[in-house]
Parts: sequence; structure tokens; C-alpha cells
Amino acid sequence: MTTTFPKDFLWGAATSAYQIEGGHLADGKGPSIWDAFCQVPGKILNGDTGNDACDHYHKMEEDVLMMKALNIEAYRFSISWSRLMPNGTTSLINEAGIDYYNRLIDTLIKHGITPWVTLYHWDLPLAIQLEYDGWLSDESIRLFTDYADLCYSRFGDRVKNWITINEAWVIAILGHGQGVFAPGRTSNVEPYQVGHNLILAHAHAVKCYRDKYQSEQKGQIGITNNCDWREPATDSDLDKEAAQRALEFFLGWFADPIYLGQYPQAMRERLGDRLPTFTDEQRALVLGSSDFFGLNHYTTMYAAHDAGDDSAGDVYGNGGLSEDQDVKLSVDPQWEKTSMNWAVVPWGCGKLLHWIANRYDNPEIYITENGCSYNDTVENGIIADTKRIDFFEGYLGECNKAINNGVKLKGYFIWSLMDNFEWASGYSKRFGIHYVDFHTLKRTPKESAKWFAKYIVNNK
Ligand code: GAL
Repeated sequence: MTTTFPKDFLWGAATSAYQIEGGHLADGKGPSIWDAFCQVPGKILNGDTGNDACDHYHKMEEDVLMMKALNIEAYRFSISWSRLMPNGTTSLINEAGIDYYNRLIDTLIKHGITPWVTLYHWDLPLAIQLEYDGWLSDESIRLFTDYADLCYSRFGDRVKNWITINEAWVIAILGHGQGVFAPGRTSNVEPYQVGHNLILAHAHAVKCYRDKYQSEQKGQIGITNNCDWREPATDSDLDKEAAQRALEFFLGWFADPIYLGQYPQAMRERLGDRLPTFTDEQRALVLGSSDFFGLNHYTTMYAAHDAGDDSAGDVYGNGGLSEDQDVKLSVDPQWEKTSMNWAVVPWGCGKLLHWIANRYDNPEIYITENGCSYNDTVENGIIADTKRIDFFEGYLGECNKAINNGVKLKGYFIWSLMDNFEWASGYSKRFGIHYVDFHTLKRTPKESAKWFAKYIVNNK
């Protein structure tokens, strides 16, 4: 058993546009649904907004140097759709926004860092929400594909790694089921319609890339989904089935259509008419539409069978619409918890990787996010985040074991490069391996950043 990673394993760090850029109106950018959502009283802790965030928009060069010092090989960031298309459509292209991402991409490449670009990390142009009802409308599929096409044509000569959509589950459930994220809707029908449109938008954007760009640009394209691990609460068949069902409602919802050609059986049986169906043509388009399996993973919960329970899970209600699943979630009180109250359970990551490998015929997997928030403090200029280092050592240890057991895990991106706007929690949760002082915006490497820089070198 080796404990070092394969030579070609990719080491990276991740962020997203709304969480770090700021510059919310700079140089012709249009508003997004997160700009609007942050204005709704009571939605974001302390009334925080991403208006300025880490001001990465103006500190981009400095931040790339920070990445360089971290020894990362790849940087995953997202493009703000409304920075390129202020009203969300091709009728208005903002060249200043395109210049900005060109500079970012060129600066990364100059420093030997490979850009991994997410097209959509939740910041839908507000105009699309107002004029078309956002992801609820199937017009969103065409609009997203137009936007993706613009990105491939302007950046694809240098960007070779594309992620269409980040965490469709969050957009559907937290944005349209529980209403805790933009656009703030609550429903037990809309999440499944939105999920369907997101899958089709992804598939059309991939088709556009494959038809028009991929053979010339020679890049890869995929989708990133998120999933916690669900461990059966007991050995009973009912609890084992509940855990399996919970995973199907979480990850299977989006990965099954892409890898197996249809929604999971548990969802079809339980949701009836609330779950849209794919036409034969759509099914064929969606099947095989990801060149790699992007995975964001944070935590683990126990799952038990519980007819009629509506426990919402954790801080963001990460159980989904649990009444649709008949699953009750819980955690072991002994487990270490982060400041999100998410349990630190490295073996859950290992089990999830094996579950994916078994269910989807051992695809190439990239962990596109993994990390933790803690209440970090600066003392004498030092941020001694030893719990974060323990977290990464634990999770990376499980990744290493999974690789040795045949899982095709090809890379790992830390969430996050720096502390940032953590959605409904505002600036109260620090996920970064660089500390950001949100008054001065000064960045300081935490001990975990120094640890990660060495870990990468030792594993090459
Ligand atoms: C993911 C999300 C990130 C980040 C992280 C921590 O769901 O993609 O934007 O916020 O969770 O909560």
C-alpha cells in the first residue's frame, strides 16, 4: 500500500465568482439573483452581501501569486454570467467582463497554473429570473447554452477544463425547495422541474462544446455534483434501503441520467408526476454527457427509515425534501463538528467514492471541493488552524486509500483558496486556507496553507 498519490494526480484550490470577486457593478456588470437576494432583509446573516466580498476583481494578480506560493497546479473558479452578459442574453456582451477573465486566465497560465472553469456557480443574471422565471423555464436551457458558447469561443483556446454547473442539487433544493438560497422559492414541485432544466442545460452546453469546439480545442467538459455520505443508522434492511434511497435522491438525481440514462427508481416511484420525464431524444443527449465525474463532498450523516418524518438535516437543511424520501438523518454526537456543524467523517468520503465507482462503472472522478469552516483567529500574525489540517489529512488519507483500491480519483481541489462570502451565512463562516480580514481585505496564509503547499510537493 502506497501513501503517496499518483504522479499525475492534480492538486488544486477552488473559489466561485460571487463569493470572492466583489465588483458587483464594476465595468458594466449586470445584477445576478444573488445580488438581489442579498437585498432581501433576513436572508443573509448580519445583512452581509457579496458586493465587495474579497475584492478579487481588483486583487486578482496578487491572488494568483498567492496560488503560486501554494504550489497548486490548478485553480477552479467560476465566471459571472452577468459580468459577460449583463441581461443574460447575447443581445448585450460586456467586453470589459471578457477582458477581466482573459487577464485572469492569462495570469494563471503565466504562472503555470491550469484554469478549471465553472460556467455556473449559482449567480443567474437577474434579468433571466425576472423575464423568464429563471431555471423554472425551459428557456433557461437555450440561454445557458448561448452563454456557454460565448465562453468556449472567447476562452476555450486557453481553457481546457470546463465544468458546466456547480451543484444542481443546491440550486434545486436550497434555491427552489427550502428557499434559503437565491432565488428564495419554497415548493415541493419546483425543485424537480428546475433539476430537469439544469440537467438539460448541462447536456446542451456539452453538445455545443463537442459539436463546435472540442476537437479543435482539445479540452474536457463535465458537471460537478455534491453529495454527503449516508451511512445506514443500523444493520436493518430498512435503514440500509433508506441510506441508499437518500444517496439516490441526492447524487443519483443528477448522476443517474448522465451515466445510466434515467432518474433513480426510488425517485420515479415516490415522486410520480412531480418528476419530469425525458423524451427519447433528451435521454440520448444527456446520457454520456460528462467527460469526468466532478464531486463536491463535505460531510456524512446516518440515515434511518422514517415514514413521514420531515427532519431537515443540518444547517442548510441538507436532507433535501426529506418527506419525499422517508429518511431520518442524524449524526453521532462523538463526531468532531466544523463551525457549519457538519460532522468530520473521513471514512464517509472513502465510502462515497466507492459508491460512485460501483454505480457508475468507475468513472474518472475529480473532487472539485472538499473543506471545512472553523472559527479561525489571528494570534501574533499566525492562524493556527490545526483542526483544518487534521480534516484534510483525514480526507486525503481516505482518497489515497480509495485510489489504491482502484477508484479512478484523478484530482482534488481544496475549498477554499481563501475565506469568502459563505452564502446565507455571510462572512461568518471561514472555509479558506488563507485568512481574509474583511475590513482591510488582507490575505494571510493559515497554517493549513503552509501545510498544503508542502503536502503537494511531498506527493509529487
Ligand atoms: C458548496 C459550494 C461552495 C461553498 C461550499 C461550502 O456547496 O459549492 O460555494 O460555499 O459548499 O458551503
